[in-house]
Amino acid sequence: VDLGLTGRGFVVGGGSRGLGRAVASELVAEGARVVLVARDADSLAEAAGELGDAAVPCPADLAEPGAGERISTAVHEHLGDELHGILVNHGGPPFGRALDLSDEEWQAAFDLVLRGPLALLRALVPTLAEGGSIVFVTSSTTRQPMPGLDTSNVLRPGIAALVKTLAHQLAPRVRVNGVAPGRIATDRSRALSEARASEAGVSIDEQLRSESADIPMARLGEPAELARVATFLLSPAASYVTGANLQVDGGYVTAVP
Ligand SMILES: NC(=O)c1ccc[n+]([C@@H]2O[C@H](COP(=O)([O-])OP(=O)(O)OC[C@H]3O[C@@H](n4cnc5c(N)ncnc54)[C@H](OP(=O)(O)O)[C@@H]3O)[C@@H](O)[C@H]2O)c1
Repeated sequence: VDLGLTGRGFVVGGGSRGLGRAVASELVAEGARVVLVARDADSLAEAAGELGDAAVPCPADLAEPGAGERISTAVHEHLGDELHGILVNHGGPPFGRALDLSDEEWQAAFDLVLRGPLALLRALVPTLAEGGSIVFVTSSTTRQPMPGLDTSNVLRPGIAALVKTLAHQLAPRVRVNGVAPGRIATDRSRALSEARASEAGVSIDEQLRSESADIPMARLGEPAELARVATFLLSPAASYVTGANLQVDGGYVTAVP
């Protein structure tokens, strides 16, 4: 399949490590140019440096007001009129149980998962080229709650609804989809497993074995396995796919539909 990505420009949220970094790497390998976004300027510059001339860093906190405008300026400067897609991605919201989390923690989760992405898209969608594509990194929690991740369990289904809403409103000019990871081996999923291991009083290896046993594919996914699906959705090769939230979870979610 020719993804048709050569020379196209993308904004990649959470681009310094984990899933965002893996998507940026696939995009650049396909000939695209990327503006990478994350908070820590040093690790972002390092990630951009590893990807070469096709990548530029734009340090910004997506949960903070004003990030969308800052990213829009970087897009104009580095991609000109060639913005063809956006990976809406950032770190995960705070771990914890619904009633144990404070109002401040809930507010921070809302700002990160919903308010920030809305502000980003408000700033960038008007400049997206015809045929552009938006992909949200969502979660298996859009369809099946995960223990200890109640901010995600509550807020991510809202993102799945936002994907459907925007897909309808922005068609036919722009497509909007989600990719829903289950357990992919990144810093974030490692931190979650460590927290669960310590709560259960077991070793991290034992914890990872028991988590893998819940996945039909019997292992955690690799970032590149999610990145290939996201890159396809971002590309013109997915020209008739919009409003979808594709599971990349080794079969973890068993809900029907
Ligand atoms: N990995 C999984 O198994 C899994 C499963 C389900 C859902 N997810 C979701 O997928 C997303 C990415 O996960 P990941 O595993 O790749 O996480 P990760 O390894 O923690 O990477 C997160 C990336 O986002 C950046 N980031 C964090 N907060 C940000 C903010 N406020 N503004 C801008 N950039 C920010 C981080 O850099 P800085 O810290 O420098 O900002 C980093 O580049 C998360 O929302 C996570 O909840 C992941």
